[in-house]
Amino acid sequence: MNYDFDRGIERHNTGSVKWDQATETFGEGVLPMWIADMDFPIARPITEALVRRAQHECYGYSCPQLSTIEAITERLWKNYHWKVDPDWLLFTPGVVPALHAAVRSFTSPGDEVVLQSPVYYPFWSAVRENGCHVAINQLQWNGAKYEMDIQGLDNLFQPAVSGMSHGPSRIRMIILSNPHNPVGRVWTRDELRAVGETALAHDAIVVSDEIHCELMLNGARHVPLATLSPEFEQGSITCMAPSKTFNLAGLATSFIIVPNPRLRAAMQRRISGSAGNISPFGYVALEAAFRDGDDWLTQVLHYIEGNVTYVQLFVRDHMPQVKVTPIEGTYLVWLDFRALGMSTPQLSDFLRAQAKVGLDEGYVFGPGGEGFARMNIACPRTTLQEGLNRIAGALARLDTN
Ligand SMILES: Cc1ncc(COP(=O)(O)O)c(C=O)c1O
Repeated sequence: MNYDFDRGIERHNTGSVKWDQATETFGEGVLPMWIADMDFPIARPITEALVRRAQHECYGYSCPQLSTIEAITERLWKNYHWKVDPDWLLFTPGVVPALHAAVRSFTSPGDEVVLQSPVYYPFWSAVRENGCHVAINQLQWNGAKYEMDIQGLDNLFQPAVSGMSHGPSRIRMIILSNPHNPVGRVWTRDELRAVGETALAHDAIVVSDEIHCELMLNGARHVPLATLSPEFEQGSITCMAPSKTFNLAGLATSFIIVPNPRLRAAMQRRISGSAGNISPFGYVALEAAFRDGDDWLTQVLHYIEGNVTYVQLFVRDHMPQVKVTPIEGTYLVWLDFRALGMSTPQLSDFLRAQAKVGLDEGYVFGPGGEGFARMNIACPRTTLQEGLNRIAGALARLDTN
């Protein structure tokens, strides 16, 4: 069937964080283009499966059925030729709880975890709230795109080079975002291999957050780090979910692939103790999405690609002071406002109070994010147009004042 993504859905008063908490977060009258969910209708087969499940009338504690597990393993095989044993799968109500569980499972207080900044802000809390320190390996801009600083990553493990005074490295883990939120890179095999090799060489675990893995734009191809070698598979934990791809974030359903039995047992203990359960609706939606959602996914990706082009052309023609970072995956556009020469509070005031748009402001993603803002473009084109017009109007007013 054909989906109409131009049709706006009224989301006010539905308990939507994006819409119902926009005013208290950004101020009166802002257009919400922040937190990562889509303003689109979901795939019809998912709604139908949920309605069928709702009619069953018993909503007790739930576990994945065999057919749900098969839907996952078949999809991983179809998408990546990754043969995942069903025993490797753990389930958590969201990827963020899994990140916390991983940090708690494999570090001790005072240890360090590498983040490649600027990066999805809950990574920082997952490290710090569990007693660890962040070792920052900032992404590098090469004039055309962001790259990983592979040498910088290796240097972090060398106390003499990094200037740390406390002896041997205490880095136990690297948390990877692939595709990278917020800069939109889909990491190449070479980049992933370099991360995997560095981690192996220094006995660190890679936690690879691949929640955006099916949001591939303009021919980009996602590669799970764990598929690159048996050693990477054994030394990593991969976090995936249908939530970003199929717009199911509110159903809080994710699966964590942990091939190594020792790591899996440790994660399982943490998850059972603290992560909570997935609702019956989460499992049903996951299975329907993975089995019957591809027609919708093809259409939504095409629409998002159209939105990317729209942003690029609009910015080129109407606000050349702003730069659009090239985007390979996700529906999050990383906009560079640094040429305006504003401080962080000034840019915040400009976006919220003058342009009246609610964007995720870059500084929250850590060093390298200052002067940027992340715009969620998974919305009808008219909403996108409105958001961009508001920013362009505010820029024009700056020029005339
Ligand atoms: C990289 C990344 N990880 C995790 C999440 C959130 O995961 P969850 O809602 O499953 O906890 C997001 C949401 O935007 C994300 O971008």
